[in-house]
Amino acid sequence: VSVCMLVCMLVCVCKHINTEGMISKLSRGLRRATPLLCRSVHSGTRPASTAAFKLKTDRRLTSEEVYAREDKYGAHNYHPLPVALERGEGLYVWDVDGNRYYDFLSAYSAVNQGHCHPKIIAALNAQASKLTLTSRAFFNDVLGVYEEYVTKLFGYDKVLPMNTGVEGGETACKLARKWAYNVKGVPKNQAKIIFAEGNFWGRTMAAISSSTDPSSYEGFGPYMPGFELVPYNDVPALEKALQDPNVAAFMVEPIQGEAGVVVPDHGYLTKIRELCTKHNVLWIADEVQTGLARTGRRLAVDHEEVRPDVVILGKALSGGVYPVSAVLCDDEVMLTIKPGEHGSTYGGNPLACRVAVAALEVLEEEKLAENADRMGKLLRDELRKLPKDIVTTVRGKGLLNAIVIKETKDYDAWKVCLRLRDNGLLAKPTHGDIIRLAPPLIIKEHEVQECVDIIQKTILSF
Ligand SMILES: Cc1ncc(COP(=O)(O)O)c(C=O)c1O
Repeated sequence: VSVCMLVCMLVCVCKHINTEGMISKLSRGLRRATPLLCRSVHSGTRPASTAAFKLKTDRRLTSEEVYAREDKYGAHNYHPLPVALERGEGLYVWDVDGNRYYDFLSAYSAVNQGHCHPKIIAALNAQASKLTLTSRAFFNDVLGVYEEYVTKLFGYDKVLPMNTGVEGGETACKLARKWAYNVKGVPKNQAKIIFAEGNFWGRTMAAISSSTDPSSYEGFGPYMPGFELVPYNDVPALEKALQDPNVAAFMVEPIQGEAGVVVPDHGYLTKIRELCTKHNVLWIADEVQTGLARTGRRLAVDHEEVRPDVVILGKALSGGVYPVSAVLCDDEVMLTIKPGEHGSTYGGNPLACRVAVAALEVLEEEKLAENADRMGKLLRDELRKLPKDIVTTVRGKGLLNAIVIKETKDYDAWKVCLRLRDNGLLAKPTHGDIIRLAPPLIIKEHEVQECVDIIQKTILSF
């Protein structure tokens, strides 16, 4: 009790000093250190009524205030780089103080078309004032337009529309299991799906069940049965795994994005195709991050001109303005799912469909795959001139690239990203020492050069 009183007195003192950051840090510490002070999950008590609550929005917040408010009221499930953004256009984003940055993350490749692309925003606005959501209880006049467009563009019989990338992955897994039971003849509840180590396809229970990253799965068990792993880029291991007659599918990213832009050997995708065909196993390509022109082709599998049985798309399918994902496959697989067996309230809504058509048209009309291919080569050539004692590796395809930073006691990838920010370029470390460099695909040659200058100046400052 006396510890609690002491802590409460401290809070009062801090409130008096009126430093929001301090208060939020303290209250976060409090939540962790003195659980007895917090409401229990099942206590049944409610916080003070919010009926008369009105959010104060009359004043521009400083960056520090933006951080403090998120810290205080939001879950702590992310660790953002400290920069508070309020506007985006094309390659650039601006913070609340008016500073401009090159965006070298592109919202994890969702903003391939550039921020607030006028054609996509126009489509959003036009549809938003007409019809936004009907649910799939009824037909709407845009879904079919989108379905025809996207299936013809990618050459599949059918599409199943969802919202987020991870729902696309879940959908693909469900399709694979249904196909295994109804078509392949796998005994009931015995179907297996093989994944590659280092995979990332989101945060649902199924997605983390296939993860090899403890920060994804630790503390969230029990896990989904029927999932198995093989090393990435390992053809003999895959061949061995596929010999099990109960295997329904092999789900894999053509380049592992979250693992740190891990590019497999050329020929790996061709081998996957051959082995999956030989063993009557579906090949599911997770193109949520690599697809839609990011790697210099419409799909990353196009680098080897191979065709997966199932393709998952997301992120840039809306150019970053709305959650839209899709699963593409042929009738033999798609029609195993019957009415009532899968869906989503928002999946296939008219707003999403109109936005997705516009986003896909932009990729095609502006030839963004070709541009990503050329600009990516230029970027990697320039990055390879950086001092090797700091930047030990440069890798990637198209505009999905990464550099590996050799950590010392003076600097690491996080510190490099902070200094890149100070120099006007935003990037984020992934897996400790890797920095992903993935600008919007509209970037031009002189802009690549300008960004290389920023990166070089930053690296040399260490
Ligand atoms: C390859 C891949 N698949 C799936 C996902 C999940 O997408 P979302 O975050 O939209 O659920 C991601 C997200 O980064 C991804 O990189």
